[in-house]
Amino acid sequence: MGSLHNASTEQLQALDAQHHLHPFTDTRALNAKGTKVIKRAEGVYLWDSDDQKFLDGMAGLWCVNVGYGRREILDAAYQQMEQLPYYNSFFQTSHPPAIELAARIAEVTPPQFSRVFFCGSGSEANDTVVRMVRHYWSAVGQPDKKVIISRENAYHGSTMAGASLGGMKPMHAQGGLPIPDIEHIMQPHWFINGFDETPEDFGLRAAQALEERILAVGPERVAAFIGEPVQGAGGVIVPPDTYWPEIQRICKAYDILLVADEVICGFGRTGNWFGSNTFDIEADLLAIAKGLSSGYLPIGGVVVSDKVAEGLEAGGDFNHGYTYSGHPACAAAALANIELMQRERIVESAGDSIAPYFQKRLAEFAEHPLIGQVRGVGLLGALQLVPDKPSNTPFAKGGVVGTVCREHCIRNGLVMRAVDDAMILSPPLVISESEIDELFDKARRSIDQTLDDYRNSRIDFS
Ligand SMILES: Cc1ncc(COP(=O)(O)O)c(C=O)c1O
Repeated sequence: MGSLHNASTEQLQALDAQHHLHPFTDTRALNAKGTKVIKRAEGVYLWDSDDQKFLDGMAGLWCVNVGYGRREILDAAYQQMEQLPYYNSFFQTSHPPAIELAARIAEVTPPQFSRVFFCGSGSEANDTVVRMVRHYWSAVGQPDKKVIISRENAYHGSTMAGASLGGMKPMHAQGGLPIPDIEHIMQPHWFINGFDETPEDFGLRAAQALEERILAVGPERVAAFIGEPVQGAGGVIVPPDTYWPEIQRICKAYDILLVADEVICGFGRTGNWFGSNTFDIEADLLAIAKGLSSGYLPIGGVVVSDKVAEGLEAGGDFNHGYTYSGHPACAAAALANIELMQRERIVESAGDSIAPYFQKRLAEFAEHPLIGQVRGVGLLGALQLVPDKPSNTPFAKGGVVGTVCREHCIRNGLVMRAVDDAMILSPPLVISESEIDELFDKARRSIDQTLDDYRNSRIDFS
């Protein structure tokens, strides 16, 4: 425990402002306001440095799937650190936690997968994906297959390749992105891009954008398509039912690898072990992180189908890896996390009973005057705030109302994220029905307060 354990909120905020640069943050604005300091957590709850309690509707950053404070994971990491805190897996060496975790991942992933390449995060996983699929095509004699097609508004991480794969315009605007040979097609966001069509027609049209782009680029140059089964950071965008089968057909027809970015959707989030199970996607590679260790320690990986693994083996050395690939303590924590999920049937009970209850309570918001669309699957949910319910017209200045609503949530003891004007939920999978009731009571109060602010012109759109 550091020496600041008993420091006041003001002391912590001052020191934070002086020395700490935060991710995705306007530093000047944050420092003027002061950061919220989170000090401890248990189950689905967080406490800040003023001892205010919050229900964590976001499972940290979509990752604490088994909830906070699970002793089994702490013990596993501690014991591993006592025995072997670090060793690498580069020079023909390995160690038990990485070996066992790799085997366990093969057990829970769909049947075409039996190998994993470890890294430290979701971003590193997607950087690995870029190098791996290009190396694969080169190894099997098609070195011109380099182009990777992704979607607008996708999120695949913050490293150079991860952010290039992602389709977030503000990210591309900084640091000279995207890197070459990355293409983006439209997102399958019916409410924003297809409101005048049936969801089924729109889903087909959004998927066929892939075929059009493959033909424009030339199939002999396209290496892979990457997509999150449900776009998370883009706003919990659940694609229409017609979308993934059509994407699958197109990838097969043009011999394009299909990469499912399971960083959010993996490890139970959509009600099954993987988003690929929920949407019946037969992927060639999976990017994993977050729920792999429930966020207790940083670890990610790329799970590789047997077909891709065989191609890679034919290519000799793969000149890629990280000091912390398969880090022993992180691997031990991830293994304990998966064992916990299996032993307590956390994914199955989330899928069978908790997720349906969560979706039922979420759906009640469809009647709310400020909500234009409710989206969700498993333990993912989004409430789209709109000024004019019958039309899908968004607020003239996006993100303002969402921020107001998020602030109300915080005041009401709920962590809910705003993606522009969509309010996002992704609670721990172990949330109980009564905690779900508490979550939605707080969400309703916050949305009612936001509506009241809007109707009484208390929201500053300038
Ligand atoms: C789908 C997806 N891929 C990749 C990433 C990047 O993961 P990380 O932040 O661990 O680098 C994220 C993070 O939110 C994500 O949501």
